[in-house]
Amino acid sequence: MKNKIYAVVVALLLSGIAQAQKLNIKNTFKDAERQTDVMLAEISKVKNDSEALVSPRTVEKGRLRLVRSSDWTSGFFPGELWRLYAYSKNIKWRRLAEKFTANIEKEQFNGRTHDMGFKVYCSVGNGYLLTKNDHYRQVLIQSAKTLSTRFNKTAGVIRSWDHNKDKWAYPVIIDNMLNLELLFEAAKLTGDSTYYNMAVSHANKTMENHFRKDYSSYHVVDYDSNTGKVLKKTTHQGYSDESAWARGQAWGLYGYTMCYRETKDPKYLQQAQHIAGFIFNHPNLPEDLIPYWDFNAPGIPNEPRDVSAAAVMASALLELSSYSTNGQYYKSLAGKILSNLTKAYRAAVGKNYGFILLHSTGSKPSDSEVDVPLAYADYYYLEALLRVQRLSEGKKLF
Ligand code: GLY
Repeated sequence: MKNKIYAVVVALLLSGIAQAQKLNIKNTFKDAERQTDVMLAEISKVKNDSEALVSPRTVEKGRLRLVRSSDWTSGFFPGELWRLYAYSKNIKWRRLAEKFTANIEKEQFNGRTHDMGFKVYCSVGNGYLLTKNDHYRQVLIQSAKTLSTRFNKTAGVIRSWDHNKDKWAYPVIIDNMLNLELLFEAAKLTGDSTYYNMAVSHANKTMENHFRKDYSSYHVVDYDSNTGKVLKKTTHQGYSDESAWARGQAWGLYGYTMCYRETKDPKYLQQAQHIAGFIFNHPNLPEDLIPYWDFNAPGIPNEPRDVSAAAVMASALLELSSYSTNGQYYKSLAGKILSNLTKAYRAAVGKNYGFILLHSTGSKPSDSEVDVPLAYADYYYLEALLRVQRLSEGKKLF
């Protein structure tokens, strides 16, 4: 039995490494640049509708859908432009990144959602990492300050949503782990450990309350903000309260890997490894490692995939590979995901309104954005490709 497991692991490693080597990063980025030119032309076609619509999110009813800066996805397209600049060093992408990032900056004062990290860190944050522009630094600090107003000391977590007050008292979603990156960055920029402590508290409480014994996670945990007690554990975008929503598992994997980077606390590394164990040993994970939208979706194998979850997982695995003693294994999984995305889930250049990837699922239960392109799938895909590039050059990711 032991020998069989060993043989399977070795086969997976070899096939993953071989696939990663087949990934042609240079050509894939060239295609991404051409596709982004298509997207820019598409944006200018629909932009006339309203100046307030600033970033592409998806395709809806045969049309490119742009969103306002307040939408949780607004930071991804500017972030993609920064990634194109990071790869190519072409000033054209920098100028475009600056232009689209400027549209998002006013979110630094919007305390009505927890999505500050997604919106501001993916846009302004990437801009700051690449340029060290002091104005971006100020925006990041203000954004963290605004986000921190959503932290409740008794519960020890940041509130996610304000909507559906009839359903939840103080909802926290697993996605919220990604917003912690902004707080960790603000702690470094200001020297104020309050931001760091909030992020650590949120990560610890989420580890305590969001995860099941098998290391899958609930989507929404509702707290009593007066006592800190958990009221209920439910879902919003998953198949059922007890199911494992694919993108939720991806956010958890990414979130705890990032928390390990920022704190070096081994319990976060262990948590990320356990989450990876749940995902990549799951009997419902397809052979090509691109998950169905929920690991427990009732119609598997006739259920839509979620390419966005796969892209987030690939990027997280690459970072995890740089910390873990199982690094080669995680790298090979990421390589397999990325080569499959590149080979079988990419739009032909010139098609798909300029989105790079096809077949993501936003929210199946509300029949919204099912089997469509999504900006965040493209964002994490480009991030993962850049990570492969850095690792292959023997460079550190952070
Ligand atoms: N953060 C929202 C989502 O993953 O759909």
